Amino acid sequence: MTGSAPGELWWRGGVCYQVYVRSFADSDGDGVGDLPGVTARLPYLVSLGVDAVWLTPFYPSPMADGGYDVADYRGVDPAFGTLADFDALVADAHRLGLRVVCDLVPNHTSDRHPWFREALAAPPGSPARRRYVFRPVDDHDPDRPPNDWRSAFGGSAWRRVPSPDGWPDEWYLHLFSPEQPDLNWDNPQLRAEFRKIVRCWLDRGVDGLCIDMAHALFKHPDMVDAGAGQHIEFRRNHLMPFFDQPGVHGLYRQWRTMVDAVPGERALIGEVCLFDADRQARYVRPDELHQAFTFELLECDWFAPALRDTIGRTLEAYRRVGARPAWVLNSHDATRTVTRYGSGGGGPRAARARAAALLMLALPGAAYVYQGEELGLPQVDLPDEALRDPIWERSGRTVRGRDGSRVPIPWTADGETYAFSPDGADPPWLPQPDGWGAWSVQRQTADPASTLALYRAAIRLRRKVGENIGAAELTWWDAGPDVVAFRRGDGFGCAVNTGGGAVPLTGVGRVLLASVPAEPAGGALLLPPDAAVWFIPA
Ligand code: BGC
Ligand code: MG
Repeated sequence: MTGSAPGELWWRGGVCYQVYVRSFADSDGDGVGDLPGVTARLPYLVSLGVDAVWLTPFYPSPMADGGYDVADYRGVDPAFGTLADFDALVADAHRLGLRVVCDLVPNHTSDRHPWFREALAAPPGSPARRRYVFRPVDDHDPDRPPNDWRSAFGGSAWRRVPSPDGWPDEWYLHLFSPEQPDLNWDNPQLRAEFRKIVRCWLDRGVDGLCIDMAHALFKHPDMVDAGAGQHIEFRRNHLMPFFDQPGVHGLYRQWRTMVDAVPGERALIGEVCLFDADRQARYVRPDELHQAFTFELLECDWFAPALRDTIGRTLEAYRRVGARPAWVLNSHDATRTVTRYGSGGGGPRAARARAAALLMLALPGAAYVYQGEELGLPQVDLPDEALRDPIWERSGRTVRGRDGSRVPIPWTADGETYAFSPDGADPPWLPQPDGWGAWSVQRQTADPASTLALYRAAIRLRRKVGENIGAAELTWWDAGPDVVAFRRGDGFGCAVNTGGGAVPLTGVGRVLLASVPAEPAGGALLLPPDAAVWFIPA
């Protein structure tokens, strides 16, 4: 039923489409995307050819961080629908041959979660407080937090709160916003609770769970200082005392056993961002997570030597543990590729983003496509008053944050919200820029040269060529310093030109797909700058 080769597990080489639920499709006209909206658009995902859909958090939440502040791990926020809507989505997806992956946010809860309310109402040292990371206030220096850890969204990672009944104040840890208190994974009761939560979604039929901040759950036992530079390096540096602590591997081994015992091919996917290929690969050893996001490509510059180096090192590290990468170019946290690469030309056909897509989709392993990436959407420069990302306020309004990659999808060329919402609806929760319809699904479906057409063709070919592009090994091919070129086991090949001039390629065979028309020149093929081609032996 999937794009994987016969006998292959779907997630090993599949393409998974990330839906940011708030911004995908709004069925009830409140300006917020919802689960019935996703269900109604599943045929679009089928036409795109993806294997699976990953839904970002739709759980009850005060939305201090777009739903990554969960107040109930087993429910659906009324803004997004009901549990019945969720079940209907899963049933429809399965009927259409799509797998469904949900987000799991185990590093922190919302401060509105009953566990945290209970903790605040309980004295220091109580079982309720031990679900979180509370620390005493130092009597000699009551304003000094327990250590120097910084929140990823700005400011100290500690907040001081009063205790009931005249007990002394305590600090609690929040690696993200103060509305997202960190859980204490050293607590066996908490681990038992989460096993039940994982189980509950597996029983509801999900094919996978995507574990948010999977490398952050355990903290250094002595809570040692993190030192200078930690904020800038927050997402990248595995040497932080709040990242990549040994306890996390035992936890995932336990979850793996539990998940593999459930019938069906269920997968545990980790949002692991350590930027050290070897440490990253340890999370996907055979008895740990099934898959971990590979953000290396997302962080890499548009520069052939860097791309070759990154891809090579990553593949080698994963190969050593018998796993394959899960490549990511875009997400709800990153600046969209069209804008990030400067993208040679801009507009709906921005060249570099298109070439990068062909590169990613030609690599061994799985690939994630973030909604709107297939439309070549740019990052939107939103007005100050529209910004909702907590980073904006927490940084003292100096860092604009991630909202620019979360603007609601344009489905049609015209109309009030380009059919994100039904007619007469409330305005979308983030404003769509003028002219957004030029990028719409409708407009691009009618245009064979569109970015949507390119993604559709690439995903379809990826399935056909040599059974499964995701599976075969890669052999580098030297086509000059500005070109990333390789062949795969069955002769399928890809070449990407990041340089400033056209590069003649000889002996490539027959062109299957190209990000821009590539002209034959004598016996060679002339690959323009910022372009990619796929080929097979003639
Ligand atoms: C999610 C972010 C979120 C953070 C805290 C991340 O990895 O992708 O959107 O802000 O976790 O939950
Ligand atoms: Mg809605």
